[in-house]
Amino acid sequence: MPEKTHFINEPLKASLEAGFKYAYCTCGHADTFPYCDGTHVKKGGKPIKFTLDRPEEVLLCRCGRSKELPYCDGSHRP
Ligand code: FES
Repeated sequence: MPEKTHFINEPLKASLEAGFKYAYCTCGHADTFPYCDGTHVKKGGKPIKFTLDRPEEVLLCRCGRSKELPYCDGSHRP
């Protein structure tokens, strides 16, 4: 049986701040998904760290299939 993750087929609309160091969870196990909470240390994987130059409203990928991680590229759609 596959291990349960927080991946879902719907992006998260988020208002992100400029200059803040974000860590996007790629393992899907963070309780704070799609933000990393360090669970990857036990589960495997590595977060994507990113910072914005200006405040921005973005769509964060939550299916894990985007080729533009951490951003949604529409890959969740069938
Ligand atoms: S907890 Fe998933 S990448 Fe850090």
